[in-house]
Amino acid sequence: VAPLRLGLAGLGTVGIGVVKIVQRHADLITTRTGRPVVITAVSARDRQKNRDADLSAYAWETDPVALAQRDDVDVFIEVMGGHDGPARAATEAAIAAGKDVVTANKALLAHHGQALAEAAEAAGRVIRFEAAVAGGIPVIKALTEGLAANGIKRVMGVMNGTCNYILTRMQSAGLPYEVVFEEARQLGYLEADPNLDVGGIDAGHKLSLLAAIAFGTKVSFDAVELEGIGAVSIDDIRHAEDMGYRIKLLGVAQLSGRGLEQRMTPCLVPSASPLGQLQGGTNMVVLEGDSVGQIVLRGPGAGEGPTASAVMADVLDIARGIRLPTFGQPAATLATPIAAKSATP
Ligand code: NDP
Ligand code: HSE
Repeated sequence: VAPLRLGLAGLGTVGIGVVKIVQRHADLITTRTGRPVVITAVSARDRQKNRDADLSAYAWETDPVALAQRDDVDVFIEVMGGHDGPARAATEAAIAAGKDVVTANKALLAHHGQALAEAAEAAGRVIRFEAAVAGGIPVIKALTEGLAANGIKRVMGVMNGTCNYILTRMQSAGLPYEVVFEEARQLGYLEADPNLDVGGIDAGHKLSLLAAIAFGTKVSFDAVELEGIGAVSIDDIRHAEDMGYRIKLLGVAQLSGRGLEQRMTPCLVPSASPLGQLQGGTNMVVLEGDSVGQIVLRGPGAGEGPTASAVMADVLDIARGIRLPTFGQPAATLATPIAAKSATP
């Protein structure tokens, strides 16, 4: 059987995690998919950089668009980041060149996912993004496959590990926001632009993707009501604790009579509940289906291994010939997103 050939754009935390899985689990992947999966070419900015993996067998492209267009690439993996610039250009080029795409880039998808999904569908290709929502938690698979026979009533959860780390550390150590924010920076948790984390934007990106899948809408990040955690004080946290609650940056997407509501805001949750007990950088997603009831998924939302695990789950699906459309049926929207300002408070 011909191998499935990967072109990997981005050799940072996630990209190197992907290289390690492909190298470590070559036999296991072939056994599970019936087809070898190999990396043929890679791309990053700095060819001289020391990286924690042997890349000597792979062709090098400095330009990710050139990588996306190579004849020896079947699947283009985009793990560079950024919602415009090279990530968008290379993903568009890959689809135009007839490649399937796997990405971990929630910002790219929240801004351009609808257009990219429609382009992929028109070209008979797939764009898959399990890693973009809640890192290692297979939440997209749970929604699209495990709960495929359910009408989804609500999707909610904690989807940014950095914010959960900051809020739980403020609560457990009694430290003010500014001190814990600095700690998170020292630990390397914050995105290059920390406002993506603490402003709720990263988590809002993820919620908009889940909502589109769950409710059959177009991706509508602009309609997510967003509020970050920057204004949460240690007094707020203490008062909440006294009343038996904890503050979490909680995303909720649900249908109301007027359409789809999407909110990512600091919320009070009962301290004893699974969400209240969620510690550190962990993520939790709660899915409510009309037949199954409530499903709770909990696990690592970031990091080399967990995120690469999700990227490779998509690659293995493609190797097996599983080609589910990304956002259900984009043309047949079932619900209309409500503009952020008019969502029910
Ligand atoms: P890193 O910053 O660690 O790595 C980014 C990689 O992309 C680097 O290898 C960099 O090259 C390369 N790159 C950046 N710009 C270009 C360019 N113009 N041309 C070629 N290569 C380029 O990012 P992460 O691995 O952490 O994240 C990658 C993606 O995965 C992002 O979209 C992120 O949001 C997403 N993600 C990350 C998670 C995580 O835990 N890290 C979790 C879930 C999703 P060089 O090394 O030479 O600088
Ligand atoms: N900055 C993100 C987080 C990384 O803290 O959850 C994973 O998407």
